[in-house]
Order: sequence, then C-alpha cells, then structure tokens
Amino acid sequence: MAEKGEESSKPVEKYEVVFDEATGLKHYPFPLEQVPRLHWDDPTADHLMTHEMPVVLTGTELVEPALRWTLPYLEDNIGSSKHTVYISKTKKFLYFDDKKVNNVPDFREPMKKREWTFSKFVDELKGHIDRTDEYLYYQDTLTDTVGTSIKHDFVHFNWRWLNDRKKRYNWGQLTTNLLLIGQPGNISPCHYDEQHNYFCQVMGEKRCMLFSPSNFDKLYPFPVAHPCDRQTQVDFNNPDFEKFPNFRDVKGYECMVKPGEVLYIPMYWWHWIEGLPKGGITISITFWYRSGPVPNKIQYPLNDQQKTAITRNIEKMLHEALQDPAEVAPLLRMIVEGRYI
Ligand code: FUM
Ligand code: FE
Repeated sequence: MAEKGEESSKPVEKYEVVFDEATGLKHYPFPLEQVPRLHWDDPTADHLMTHEMPVVLTGTELVEPALRWTLPYLEDNIGSSKHTVYISKTKKFLYFDDKKVNNVPDFREPMKKREWTFSKFVDELKGHIDRTDEYLYYQDTLTDTVGTSIKHDFVHFNWRWLNDRKKRYNWGQLTTNLLLIGQPGNISPCHYDEQHNYFCQVMGEKRCMLFSPSNFDKLYPFPVAHPCDRQTQVDFNNPDFEKFPNFRDVKGYECMVKPGEVLYIPMYWWHWIEGLPKGGITISITFWYRSGPVPNKIQYPLNDQQKTAITRNIEKMLHEALQDPAEVAPLLRMIVEGRYI
C-alpha cells in the first residue's frame, strides 16, 4: 500500500462504468488499490492505524455478540421506541442535515426520513423486498432504550480492546454507535465524516471504496453550509467533467467487509459504502470517535486532514460573518482572482 496521499496508477482517460452481471456491482474506471486485510495484532495493521490509513481488521471480536442478531431477534428485544428509517427512490441514500435545509432555497430532500417502531420497519421491509421504486435503510443510534438482551450483548462487545486502541491512537471520546440495517444494494454515496470510525460488519457483505483526504479537490464536496455538507457532488455513474474536471484524477482504495470484520475509516477519509446487490439484508454497527486533543505544537506544513479541517473552518466563518450563502463565493473570488491566480 502506498503511503498516505501517494496512491499510484494513472488518472482516468475514458470514463466507462462496467456492470458486473454476476455480482450486480458497478466497476468504476478510476484506480483502486486493495485495502489490506490483517489480523488486528499484525504490526502492519498497527502501523496503518498509527498513520491514519484504512485497514480491514480480522480477529477483533469487537461486536461478537451482535453476530447472532437477526431481524426477529432485534424485533423481540430492541424495545418499543421509534427509530429513524430513510426511504429513497433509488438505492442511493444521500445524507442531508435537517438543520441546514433552510440555507438553500428550493432544496429538495434526496430521501424521506421516518420515525418507526422496529416492528413497523420489519413490516415495511417485507413489502419492499420486490419493489424497485423505493428502498429502505434503517439508521439509528444504539441507546439505552434497548431491552435487556441487547444491553447484555452490548456490554459484551470487546470494550477492553476498543479502550486499548483509543488510548494507543490518542483518540477522543466515543460519541455514537450507529446501527444500520439495509436492503441489498443500498448505497451510502461518497462522503467523509469528522470522526474516526471502526465500521463493524455484522450481517451480509459491504463493498467499500475509500479515498484519502488528498482527494478533496477531486471530489468537490457541497459547501459546508449546504445540507449535503461532507458529501461529494460528483455522480460516479455519470460525472460532469465540465463542472468537476479534477475528478479524472481521483484514486482510491477498495475492500469488501464481511461479518466479524472491522474496517477502520480514518477521520476525513472519503468513503462509499454499498451492500452487495445480490446479497441479503446487511447489518453494520459504527463506533465513531472524536479526534484526540490538538497537540501543543502543530507541525507545519499542515497535512491533508488538517487542510480539510481548516477549509471547513474558513467556510463556516465566512458563512456566519456574511449571513448570506450567496455572498461566500464572491468574497472568496475577490481574495483569489488576479491576486493568487
Ligand atoms: O451505509 C453505510 O454503511 C455507511 C456507513 C458510514 O458512512 O459510516
Ligand atoms: Fe460515513
């Protein structure tokens, strides 16, 4: 595996997406290296995590008790509270932030959000198995509203290993465990998160494509104030090269994540996650960790993660100061045009 930000191979010349009949997956023409799959105590796995590079970890037993989870078990034990389920007309579930919807006039929500009991979700899922006009994706945090059996399972996750990793990599607080239950082929399109993620596969397989933070200028995220902040604007199936010319140079990594395996997705790394179209229902659990405290002495020049962070801060500051999203671009242009370019 190449070092951070130095992925090999040539950029894309002719953009051709190839559909694989056997798996139902699409293969994209940009270069993808394999993410290493290693036992968690392999020194190379440790090296990769220390350097904030992705790796598929085996043997962690991180969510071992959850590997027994089935939909009937969850239905019987998750409790009667309501859970978030997204409904999309396509297999793509483009995340948007409710709190930013008013920043964009005429913003059309790319998916609907529902609050359902687990039984209602299971019921609706049965009715959606053969539909091609609408898909469901359960995405809700694991909270203490769950029943005693799931609490018992949760307590028996491998916290000792996790806490040891947190200390070793100097991560901050664990913020969220998201439980994701998806139909075959559901896609979380390419985006980055602002936290480290131990992404645990529990049921079914997922294909993941990852891109280092050095791809920020190639993936054209929506503006920070936009509801789709952190998501790429590029449609991988039909990229608009006039608008997004640098996408031609995008290069990344790829892996399949199977039940019992854990994918480390470093903070600010772009990721596309997709349940196998010809597989079954998928279940995953995320462990999101804040970054550790900022060191007293920052090393310059800034690395690509820090550049993403600083870009976000500048955008936020301008958005807050100008109070009008339409004024941000003219100001940035005024700073740059004829002066820096
Ligand atoms: O669909 C997914 O499993 C997405 C997970 C993530 O973005 O962390
Ligand atoms: Fe994510």
